[in-house]
Amino acid sequence: QNQEANNLLNAHEWLTKLYHHLLRYTKEGKEGLHYLKERGFTEEIIDTFQLGFAPNSKDFTKKFLEKKGFHPQTMVKGGLLSVNDSSEYSDRFRGRVIFPIRNHQGKTVAFGGRTVGNGDPKYLNSPETELFHKGRLLYNFDLARPEIRKTGEAILFEGYVDVLAAYQVGVKNGVASLGTSLTETQAKLLRRYVDRVIISYDSDNAGIEAAKKAAKILKQVGCEVRVAQLNYGMDPDDYIKEYGGERFRQVVNDQSSTYMTFMMTYLKRGYNLANEGDRIQYIEQVLDEISTLDKPIERDHYVKELATEYDLSKEILDRELAQRLKKRG
Ligand code: UTP
Ligand code: MN
Ligand code: MN
Ligand code: MN
Ligand code: MN
Repeated sequence: QNQEANNLLNAHEWLTKLYHHLLRYTKEGKEGLHYLKERGFTEEIIDTFQLGFAPNSKDFTKKFLEKKGFHPQTMVKGGLLSVNDSSEYSDRFRGRVIFPIRNHQGKTVAFGGRTVGNGDPKYLNSPETELFHKGRLLYNFDLARPEIRKTGEAILFEGYVDVLAAYQVGVKNGVASLGTSLTETQAKLLRRYVDRVIISYDSDNAGIEAAKKAAKILKQVGCEVRVAQLNYGMDPDDYIKEYGGERFRQVVNDQSSTYMTFMMTYLKRGYNLANEGDRIQYIEQVLDEISTLDKPIERDHYVKELATEYDLSKEILDRELAQRLKKRG
C-alpha cells in the first residue's frame, strides 16, 4: 500500500479517537453527546460505533493534524480538511456528530457528520477518496459479518442511525448502503455471505423507489429478497422508537413481504385499478415480474393469485407468461 493511503488511514484513526474522546468526555463535545442521548442512544452504542463530535471551529482539526505531522494537502485529498483559493486550510467537519465509516476490516476510511440542529446538508460525508469508494463499501459490514454468517441473512438499511438503532435492540446483522442506491458490487458482496437480504429502507417515496431498485439488483445477483414495510413516513429508527425492538423484529423477520408481494404493492401505486386500461397494464407488468422468478412453483402461485384477484382465466395468463419466458430464453 502506498504512503499517502497509509497516512490517510493513520489520520482517520487519530481523528476517530479524537472526535470520540471529545464527545464522550469534554465540554467541546457536550452538544453532540446531548444530541445522541436525546435520540435514545446508549453509551455502549456510542462506544461500539466510536461516535464522535467535531468541534465548531475552523482550525481545531487542522491544528491537531498539523501537530501530528500530516501534510495539509494530503488531508484535503482525504476529505478531512478544506482549502480555499488563497491556500488557507480549514476544518471540513464543524459542529457535527461524527459517524466513523469503517471499511470491511474495521478501519475508519471516511466520516459522516450530522448537524445537531437544522444545518444544511443534514449529513456531510467524506468525498470519494483513495480509501473510500462509496459504492464498494457497506456501512457496518465489519461488525455485522459474524452475525450475517450465523443467520444467513442481512438487513439492508438506508442510514447510519437505522443501523445503530437496530443494533441497540439486538438486530446486529444490519448494514447500510450509504446514500441512495445499492450498487451491484455491494449486492455481490452480500451474496457471498447470504441467501437472503431483507430490505428495510425508509417508508417514504424516495425509500420505496430505492427499495425497488435494490430489490432488483439483489435478485439479479441471486439473493432471495424480502422487504420490511413500515408505516408510511417512518424509517426503521422512528419505528423502533415508537414501537420498540420486539415489534421491529416481527416486522423484519415475520412480516416482511416477498419480492413479488412488494412489487405488486409497488406497481399498484402507479395505477388506478378501477380503470380497465390501467388494470390491464398493471396485470401485464405483474406478469413481467412473475416471469423473472426462477421457480416454476412460485410463478404458478402468483399467476393463480392474479387470476383469482382479477377474475381472469388462468390458462390465458399462463400463455402470456409462457411468451415472456420464451423471450427471456
Ligand atoms: P435520511 O434522510 O433518511 O436520514 O438519509 P436518516 O438516516 O433518517 O437520519 P436522521 O434520522 O435524520 O438522523 C439516509 C442516509 O442518506 C445519507 C446518509 O447516509 C443517511 O444516513 N444522507 C442523507 C446524506 O448523505 N446526506 C444527507 O443530507 C442526507
Ligand atoms: Mn478505527
Ligand atoms: Mn430517507
Ligand atoms: Mn431516514
Ligand atoms: Mn431517521
